[in-house]
Amino acid sequence: MKIRLLITQLIPGMIVAEDVRTLDHQLVLTKGTILNDNLITKLHMYSIYSIYVERKNSVLSDISTITDISMSYSERLKQTPEFKEFRKNYELGIDSFQDAINKVITKEEKIDVKALLQTSLTQITESVGNGSILNMLQNMREYDDSTYTHCLNVGLLSHIFATWMKFSAEDIETMTACGLLHDIGKLMIPHEIISKPGKLTDNEYKLIKTHPISGYQLLKESGVEDAIAYSALMHHERNDGTGYPMHLPGSRIHPFAKMISIVDVYDAMTAARVYRPAMCPFKVIEIFEEEGFDKYDVEYLLVFLTNVVNSYLQNSCLLSDGREATIIMINKDRLSRPVVQAGNDFINLMERTDLHIEKII
Ligand SMILES: [Fe+2]
Ligand SMILES: [Fe+2]
Repeated sequence: MKIRLLITQLIPGMIVAEDVRTLDHQLVLTKGTILNDNLITKLHMYSIYSIYVERKNSVLSDISTITDISMSYSERLKQTPEFKEFRKNYELGIDSFQDAINKVITKEEKIDVKALLQTSLTQITESVGNGSILNMLQNMREYDDSTYTHCLNVGLLSHIFATWMKFSAEDIETMTACGLLHDIGKLMIPHEIISKPGKLTDNEYKLIKTHPISGYQLLKESGVEDAIAYSALMHHERNDGTGYPMHLPGSRIHPFAKMISIVDVYDAMTAARVYRPAMCPFKVIEIFEEEGFDKYDVEYLLVFLTNVVNSYLQNSCLLSDGREATIIMINKDRLSRPVVQAGNDFINLMERTDLHIEKII
């Protein structure tokens, strides 16, 4: 199993899983090469953004053997049996999702939503509490940014969101399926276009924008619940009519699709992409606060953002002035700017607008 990692995420000891070439096809590293510091520097020199490495045997799986009391919260989290269990189930979940969904796309098998949820997600959601899923997910960000991973993440986040909305067990299951399958249309587009690191041509962009309709058609033919098919069709629509493919106003967007659109954007921004590193959840929340209230349903957005911020209470973070701090209190009027404690200093980020949370550590 191989994963695509950004050059900044490479660690000596990882094994190159695919020949690495420059844009003009000059061979830089061959498949099977074990990375060391010099080779990683070489990749930087050739301005290569990302490469494929072997997932198994990579030093990523050995991170838990490091014991050091000066470790950050996130490093300590990665040492816990819960995280190891989460990571194992997460990897298995992605593998089974990819396997099952490919059979649906190639029309070898009909979609079986219940079986899909069972094999891809149930193990993960049952092994950890909802409160920790978000934190654990944030610590899985070094993993690949494939559409399969994105779908699994959106499925997991939709599951948590539905519990925050206090939905019935049945609706939680539907919402999870909406998240897991929202981008099924994207999985039918050639991989080279979806994962292209450079700028897309107009035609490639047009093709990608067809995924809500192709996904909807596939799901509709499979006879799944309406909410699932409509979430695939409408998750890029926006309340102010600026979305696609139909530029629908908020009153005509399915409620589940409205919720999936929030989760979808949150996952896309907090995950690393080949062209940019992962964004800090607090930065993403700030963007939602500044631009989100016209585009997304206010009630859903507030439930989602408040609960995301709450799940980071007591977490350590790095401030923009380089200090480490603990997030101790949420400001309801400005969720992206909580009160933090750095040493003996209590800093209200709502007042100290010169400072912000750079990252969760
Ligand atoms: Fe999409
Ligand atoms: Fe998506």
